[in-house]
Amino acid sequence: MEDPNSCEFRLVSAFLAMEPINILIPIARELGRGSITEEVQNFIHEECINNKICRNYPPSQFYVKSLLKQIIIDAESQSQEVLDVFYEKYAQYLINCKDYDLSQTGKCYRILKFVFPASSDFLTSVDNQRIRESVIMTVILRSSPNMLEGGTGCSIWPSSLFLSEFILSHPQIFSSKCCFEIGSGAGLVGICLANVKASKVILSDGDLSALANLKHNLEINLVVMTEKTEQEFCQDPRLVEYRHLKWESASQDDLQNCGAEVILGADIIYDTSCVPHLVRVLVALLRTRRSSDLKQLITNSKESSFEGMITEDNLDNNCNENKDSSIFCTNAYPVAYIATVIRNIDTFDYFLRLAFEAGLRVINITKVMGSLNLLPYFSSLDRSSVNLYRISSLHS
Ligand SMILES: C[S@@+](CC[C@H](N)C(=O)[O-])C[C@H]1O[C@@H](n2cnc3c(N)ncnc32)[C@H](O)[C@@H]1O
Repeated sequence: MEDPNSCEFRLVSAFLAMEPINILIPIARELGRGSITEEVQNFIHEECINNKICRNYPPSQFYVKSLLKQIIIDAESQSQEVLDVFYEKYAQYLINCKDYDLSQTGKCYRILKFVFPASSDFLTSVDNQRIRESVIMTVILRSSPNMLEGGTGCSIWPSSLFLSEFILSHPQIFSSKCCFEIGSGAGLVGICLANVKASKVILSDGDLSALANLKHNLEINLVVMTEKTEQEFCQDPRLVEYRHLKWESASQDDLQNCGAEVILGADIIYDTSCVPHLVRVLVALLRTRRSSDLKQLITNSKESSFEGMITEDNLDNNCNENKDSSIFCTNAYPVAYIATVIRNIDTFDYFLRLAFEAGLRVINITKVMGSLNLLPYFSSLDRSSVNLYRISSLHS
């Protein structure tokens, strides 16, 4: 397998993931030892723009146009020859497409390569085999070129990248478990859950256009995964299902009867008006605890110091005091893992207050449950902006 640390790998992976152009250009320069030489341009033409996976799953045209423009500017400024094909392609874009049309409409594909490092300690999701060399898992996601087209669920949000790394880094939490995601959006988390041997994956979203996009993504990834030559990760496609679920109208009985053991959510706490409904859904899903799990929770004295709401003030202290991350990974199910970027502290505080009043225990586990950096080329992902919470019910 090609070296995941090489410039070539980083450049192609960043392009396929549609990383910002200002991240790609420095990698291209690095490949050309300071400038985007003709050789580098040829590489970009063949391995990025004409990459065979892009024929079926193209990035946005606006993105390709922006890359061409930036390469032309950069190469000319360094007195490098520019490939004729780049001028021609760029001219075609200028003649045929307005920027507005390119950037605002249609869907495009982002291709994410999760790079599992070679490590004798790291257990892959595949039959608990230890991997001796880096392994790549490819996920193809149709999404909106801009954040808001087709609803928020048609974009890939940072928390879902963060949560995916968490799932793939800690497969033991999810394997053989019925996992239920709320606000699934494009479906990335669900695809990762399918890869860590969850016994069942139920994805849900309240937005019909997001759900249609998610269905498409499940279909292409299950096909791609069984066809790809790289190590196969995927479970039986029938294990993954999706549901239209609006938190406002979700039936308590349906939620409690679905048998969810692990509940997940990424970037779902942002709209104050939805928070009470979201908390109700979480409570219903988390109140199906089996009595054996409850016993274990009670006997786990270490955990009792984290009862109740953990506030911003004592959060870090509480989490830092105990470096033993295993206590956050008990066998007590159901349990929820919610990753979120806190964009509005009032909305998040409101969520914490309602969760506390509803008898949910919310623990910030961001610092104690680290994840592997499986997207090493993905420089635009600001991991420090995402928090991960483990939520359980005090009254099961
Ligand atoms: C910011 S997006 C996050 C999508 C995905 N989890 C991610 O991180 O990429 C929020 C998701 O929650 C869904 N959502 C928001 N409010 C909802 C509600 N009241 N009921 C059900 N789904 C909702 C949206 O449709 C959207 O897919």
